[in-house]
Parts: sequence; structure tokens; C-alpha cells
Amino acid sequence: MKQTYRIAVLPGDGIGPEIVAEAVKVLNLVAEQAGVTFEFSYGRIGGIAIDTDGTPLPEETLTLSKKADAVLLGAVGGPKWDQNPGHLRPEAGLLGIRKALGLFANIRPATMHPVLVEASSLKPEVVSGVDLIVVRELTGGIYFGEKKRYSTEHGEVALDQCIYHETEIERIIRVSFEIARKRQKRLVSVDKANVLESSRLWRKVAERVAVDYPDVELTHMLVDSCAMQLVRAPKQFDVIVTENMFGDILSDQAAMLTGSIGMLASASLAEGSFGLYEPVHGSAPDIAGQGIANPLATILSAAMLLRHSLGMDAAADAVERAVWAVLEAGHRTGDIASDRSKAIGTEEMGQLVLAELSKQPIHQ
Ligand code: IPM
Ligand code: MG
Repeated sequence: MKQTYRIAVLPGDGIGPEIVAEAVKVLNLVAEQAGVTFEFSYGRIGGIAIDTDGTPLPEETLTLSKKADAVLLGAVGGPKWDQNPGHLRPEAGLLGIRKALGLFANIRPATMHPVLVEASSLKPEVVSGVDLIVVRELTGGIYFGEKKRYSTEHGEVALDQCIYHETEIERIIRVSFEIARKRQKRLVSVDKANVLESSRLWRKVAERVAVDYPDVELTHMLVDSCAMQLVRAPKQFDVIVTENMFGDILSDQAAMLTGSIGMLASASLAEGSFGLYEPVHGSAPDIAGQGIANPLATILSAAMLLRHSLGMDAAADAVERAVWAVLEAGHRTGDIASDRSKAIGTEEMGQLVLAELSKQPIHQ
């Protein structure tokens, strides 16, 4: 009997449905080639779920995600829901699913592929050869601390508490050391230990865990300095680990080194093999429905899904090779095209990847 894997698919808002559709086609071809079965179950999340279910994260979506081996997500958000109160914003669905599924480790690789050097806004000599991973803590810190809003006689007051438990820091630091160990063995832990108490605890825990990884070099960097170093000399980085909000900011910055956020995949991992995979970019409401969005970040996220959650390394490699082959042949969507008049659309890009993939036998 064929091995069966369950994949929950949450297309979300904006360009989400268009880009996810291409990634699902790629997964279907992988299933055929590798002789496995993927059972897809679709769920609603974000703005679309607010419209149909009155909540950005319906119970049904959580249930089907929990039953799955992995989750593939498009993107959430859009101007339609921007004025909603915090708990009724699309983003609350994303934050809620991360917390509910225990997805504490967000892995965001930023690799500069030679064919895309021209797409970067930085000088080729600065960005060519960049190959780094931002590991972002995803279920703690200021995102999930106590929030308050109240009135005083002097006006309104708002509070967002940044809180970290030692155990939360330790598990993400360990994940980062494990990743660094398989790469160039250089880990930079980013914090604001000159100001924040939570950062001082972060640094202490990182030092303690480092004793178990004598083969990996650990250094510390303040977040403002890291922001500077990322544009000044990004090649110095191998693996960066940081807390939730710093990671949100630095991962966008790292993404842009490579030219297009439309190319970058991410994995949000729980303990064990379960994970949620999504492109780093957002729902791009301005181009939604036009069929011009770049599906490659989502296709590359599907490759990460194959590798991390399903253990299908050969299939993941084949998908990645197919994507690079298409780029090497000169095909570009608008976001990475130097000549926009020659840009191709979402479906066309998906088809090209499928055509490349079908040439690659997968020996799983
Ligand atoms: C990200 C996004 C989310 C975040 C938003 C949409 C809530 O920016 O995944 O980086 O801030 O975590
Ligand atoms: Mg972000």
C-alpha cells in the first residue's frame, strides 16, 4: 500500500489562493513520481474566515491542521479588515495557529542564488554568496505577552509585555545550534541585552546551552548592530537566532538581500516533525486576483514541508532543483524581472516548474 500523508492547506487571503494552487500542483506531481499519496484538506484562515465564520481561526481549521502531518499556508491580511479590533484581524489567525500548534521555531533561509544577483537592490559584491538562516522564536515575547489598553485622566495608555521563560529560550537556542551544526557552525544570537531584561536572560541561556555544542561558535550581537551588519556585510552570517519581534524585522531585512521576498520560503516547526510552511511574503492585496504573483516562495515552502515534516529529502531536492532550473532558463515573474515587459504570470511559472520537475526522477 502506498504511504499516505495528510496535508492541511490554508490558502488565506489576497494572492494566497493563487500561489498555493501552484504549490499543490507541484505536490501532486511529487506524489505521482515518488509513489506516495497526499490527502489535502482545505481550511479557512485570516480575513476570509472572518467573513465566513466570524473569526480569523475557526475551530474546524485548527482541528484539520492538528490531524495533518503538515500545514501549507498562503498568506493572510488585507485592507478590508485593517480597521477591525485586534482579535478580529486576519493576523490574529496566524498568531493563533502558531500558538495553538506549538510552532515555536520559525526557520527563514535567505540564500542568494547566482541567477538572482541582479534582483537585489544592494551591490552584487555585497550580496553574491549570501547564505544565511534566520531562526526566529515564534510563540513568545512581546507578541504573546499581556496586552492592555486603558484610559487615564491624561489620555489613553497601551501596554505590550515582552515576556520569556527560560524553557522557551532554551528550546529555540537548541534548534539553532542543531541547524548551525549541519552548516558552517557559526551561530549569532541577537538580542538587546544592553537594555532589556528578557534579552539578558536570553544571553545567559544561550551561553549555558553553548556548552553542549563545543563544535559551534556562538557570538552575541545587539539587534541594532545586526540590522547594520546585515546590509554592510551579510556574508559574515551563517545562522542567526533571535526572539520573536527582532526576528520578524530582521527576517524581512535578510529576505531583501536576496532581491525578492517573493522567493523566500519559511518553516514554522513544533517539537518533532510537525510544521507549518508558508512564504515569507504577505498577501499582496494590491496584485491579488491578477495572476501575476510569484508562486516560487510557496513552492519552495512546499519543498521545506517535504524535507522537514515528511522526510522526503530527495523530493524536496528535486523541487528546489526544478525552481532553479526555471530561473536559470531566464523565466521571471514581475517581482524579480529586470525587464518587466517580459515577466510571466503565476500559472505560467507554476507550469514551468512542473515541466522541469517531470524531467527529474525522484528516488525516495
Ligand atoms: C510574519 C508576519 C506576521 C508576524 C504578521 C502577519 C502577524 O509579519 O510572519 O513575519 O508579524 O509574525
Ligand atoms: Mg513579518
